[in-house]
Amino acid sequence: MPLTIIIGAQWGDEGKGHITDRLAQGAAVVARYSGGDNAGHTVTIGAEIFKLHLIPSGIIHPGVVCLIGNGAVVNPAVLLREMDALAARGVDVGPARLKLSGGAHLITPAHIAMDRAHERERGRGAIGTTLRGIGPAYTDKARRIGLRAELLADPDALAAALAGHIAAKNEVLVKVYGEEPLDANAILADYAAQAARLAPHLADGPVLLDEALARGETVLAEGAQGTLLDLDHGTYPFVTSSSPTAGGAITGLGVGPRAVDRIIGVAKAFTTRVGGGPFPTELDGDLAARLRGTGENPWDEFGTTTGRPRRVGWLDLPILRHARRVNSLSDLVLTKLDILSGLAEIPVAVAYDLDGRRRADFPTDLSVLARCRPIYETLPGWGEDITGARRPADLPANARRYVDFIAAAAGVPVSYVSVGPGREQFISRD
Ligand code: IMP
Repeated sequence: MPLTIIIGAQWGDEGKGHITDRLAQGAAVVARYSGGDNAGHTVTIGAEIFKLHLIPSGIIHPGVVCLIGNGAVVNPAVLLREMDALAARGVDVGPARLKLSGGAHLITPAHIAMDRAHERERGRGAIGTTLRGIGPAYTDKARRIGLRAELLADPDALAAALAGHIAAKNEVLVKVYGEEPLDANAILADYAAQAARLAPHLADGPVLLDEALARGETVLAEGAQGTLLDLDHGTYPFVTSSSPTAGGAITGLGVGPRAVDRIIGVAKAFTTRVGGGPFPTELDGDLAARLRGTGENPWDEFGTTTGRPRRVGWLDLPILRHARRVNSLSDLVLTKLDILSGLAEIPVAVAYDLDGRRRADFPTDLSVLARCRPIYETLPGWGEDITGARRPADLPANARRYVDFIAAAAGVPVSYVSVGPGREQFISRD
C-alpha cells in the first residue's frame, strides 16, 4: 500500500516541505491533511524559492495531483493568492492538478478577528498563534457550526451560511470583546467571487485517494506543524487546534490505517519552536544566534508565515522518542545537519532530570515538564563544510556518529539527512 505519511517530529518547521518535494518525484498525489495557512513550507529549486502555506509542496512537480484534505482549514483568499503567485511563475494550478476536498472547513475574516480577540484576552499567557483564524475555525468545526468547502459550489447556500456566521460572530466580537463589527456585505461579496473561482477545484478527497491507491499509485500525506503542536499529544495548551500526527493524517484524509506503508518523521538536527510554551533545551545568547542565522537566508530560523525569530535549542531525544511512539514512525529524516558544522562540541539532551530522577520520555503535562532539566551528552563536532556531501561516506566521521547516535537513541532509523536547502543536498541512508 503506497501511502507515505510525512510528519513533523518536533514543534513544526522541521523542513517537511523540502522532504515532501524530494519524495514527490514519483508520487501521483500529495495531500495536506491538517492545519491551514498557519503552516509555511519553503521549497528551494535551483535559484527559485517557493513559499507555500496551503498548497501541498508537490505542486512544483508537473503531473502530481495536489489535494487539500478534509482535515485542513482553508482561507479562500489565501488559497487564491497562493495559486495566483504560482501561476505567475508558470506552475499549473488548474482544477485537474489542485483539488480541494468538500469536507475541508473554511476560514473567514470572522475567525481571524476571533483569533486576535482570544489572544488579546489571554494577555501574557497568549499562545502566540499565527493569527490566521485556525483555532476559531476548528472550534466551529467541533461545535458543528463550521462552513465546509462544499458550500463553495452553491452560491445561495454559501451566502446564507456566511450571513448567519458573520452575524453570530459580530455579536461576540462587539458584546464580549468590544470590537467593531465586521462588514458582512463586503465579506459576502468577496466570498462569492472566491467561490466562483474555487468551485471547479472541489473534489471528494477520500474517493480520490482510494482510487489512486487502488491503482497502485503512490500517495504522500504532507504534514504541517509538528507532533508537539498536536492538540492531543503536544504541549497543551501551547499547541495548534488540529492533529498533525499520524492519526490526524488518517482521519484528515479519510483513509484507513491499513493503507499506510511508511510514516516518516522529519526532525531538525537541533530544535526550534515559535510561539509560547515550554522548551527544555532552549538556548539564548551567541549560541542561539549561531543556530538561528541572521535572517538573510530563507532557510534561517525566522517564521515563513509570521517572520518571527524562532526559539532555538539543542536536539532533544525525549521529544524524538515521543514522536516515534505517538506516530509509529518507520524512519526519520534529519534536516539542517550542515548548520552544526563548525561547532567543537554538540550537546544532545538524552533524558531529563525530574526531581533527581532520570526520565527518558517526554511529559506532556506542563507542570511536570516545567520541573524537567535536560541531561546532556556531548558529542564531538566537525569542522568540515558538509553541504556538498551526497553519500554517507562523504560525511566526516563525527557527523556520521551524530546521526547514528540519534537513530540509536530515538529507536528509529535515520533514512535521509539533508545538508542544505537545495533539492540535491540530500544523503540517502536507505
Ligand atoms: P495557530 O496554529 O495559529 O493557532 O498557532 C498555535 C501555535 O502553533 C503557535 O505557537 C504557533 O506558533 C504554532 N504553529 C502553528 N503553525 C506552525 C507552523 O507551521 N510551524 C511552527 N509553529 C506553528
